[in-house]
Amino acid sequence: MNIDYGEKIPNNVNLADNRVLQRALEQWQPAFLEWWDEMGPDGTRNYDIYLRTAVGVDHKGWAHFDFVKMPEYRWGIFLNPAEPDRRINFGAHKGEPAWQEVPGEHRANLRRLIVTQGDTEPASVEQQRHLGRTAPSLYDLRNLFQVNVEEGRHLWAMVYLLHAYFGRDGREEAEALLERRSGDPDNPRILGAFNERTPDWLAFFMFTYFTDRDGKFQLCSLAESGFDPLARTTRFMLTEEAHHMFVGESGVGRIIARTAEIMARERIDDPAAIRGHGVIDLPTIQRYLNFHFSVTMDLFGADVSSNAATFYSTGLKGRFEETKAVDDHRLTDAAYPVLEVQGDRLVTVDAPALNALNERLRDDFIRDATAGVERWNRILQKQGVAFAFKVPHKAFNRRIGPLSAAKIDLGGHVITDAAWNANVERWLPSESDRAFVASLMGRVVEPGKFANWIAPPPRGINNLPIDHEYIRFN
Ligand SMILES: [Fe+2]
Ligand SMILES: [Fe+2]
Repeated sequence: MNIDYGEKIPNNVNLADNRVLQRALEQWQPAFLEWWDEMGPDGTRNYDIYLRTAVGVDHKGWAHFDFVKMPEYRWGIFLNPAEPDRRINFGAHKGEPAWQEVPGEHRANLRRLIVTQGDTEPASVEQQRHLGRTAPSLYDLRNLFQVNVEEGRHLWAMVYLLHAYFGRDGREEAEALLERRSGDPDNPRILGAFNERTPDWLAFFMFTYFTDRDGKFQLCSLAESGFDPLARTTRFMLTEEAHHMFVGESGVGRIIARTAEIMARERIDDPAAIRGHGVIDLPTIQRYLNFHFSVTMDLFGADVSSNAATFYSTGLKGRFEETKAVDDHRLTDAAYPVLEVQGDRLVTVDAPALNALNERLRDDFIRDATAGVERWNRILQKQGVAFAFKVPHKAFNRRIGPLSAAKIDLGGHVITDAAWNANVERWLPSESDRAFVASLMGRVVEPGKFANWIAPPPRGINNLPIDHEYIRFN
């Protein structure tokens, strides 16, 4: 399962043995590089960046670190090893051998799942393309670029499946993945959160904490797929995704640590006074959290969804940790609680479990995301700062599904439009919050130096010192 770097497209799928596929991907490769040049990190063509590259797919030591120019990054196709005699673990086909080819009757749905996942990968690179101009340190800039090249590789992972298993319409979908643009009104990315702007580094860290975590849960569900090539490729993607969430959690944590340090040192808790010290006040961080959390809630889709039921029953997309669940893995007779707006109240009703799979995945996500927010709160506790971050109610600020029809506050109460309008600036980042955060953003790239509003990390990359020269600008 070693990766062949002698090939034009590094891979561990014996691409050289399939000339037709190899040629098709070698034709897509220049289009990808053109897209990277146009929409990838702005103005970075000649930077030498200390990046990790996959060298194998086993648990230990898959990563190799070295200085690379991003356009020369060895994007390729890496699948986890096949499990011998793998079976489909859920749905109507439970117990049958996993599919090595696309099952004809499920072809359209499978393609849709792969395209939807694939579309998020270049989208986030597009959303983040200007952040390099305002990096708070060389360390953070390097981490941004690492995330960017890996999202590029995730696009490769999905494009490989489209080319290898879907023939002509797969190739057309692979081209369209390079044509849509985040935020473009005429040809936007498929999912809402991936058309939002990522204008500053607090937004970037919140995005990688919450929205990349949605990626984790989607990938975990696809890693259970009865379509074996999809399961194997998403399993490897998950090893890369872990780093993106680390960037988010540690980034927000370092911003909180710096603010808490100033609050404790100066004995202040008035947001204006805190801002006066050039750090981000905690209520503003909370509003960013509310925004990114709620936008990410919508990524899981409608609370009750016949598509979700179909994807599961047909064995295409499982649950998070499917094989650990103690039930029949068919769910035909089971129920799951979902929320409904009834008059001026949110009420819990039972839906068929199959139709509520989006909601279940959303709940799994909330548990995981909330645990990290508690770790942020411990940073405040250590400094003796009396403030605690809280994730909003999952019905807050929704734009998809039946909950989007009502205005719902942070605690999950249905409120009037007037009450919403009176409070929205306390709950979501206002123009002036965003302008303040933007005013702090300036480029700090001297090795070992950090912008005033963020604490240094406890350690550097790959055991190197924090003040290592992680990027050479040439
Ligand atoms: Fe990704
Ligand atoms: Fe990611």
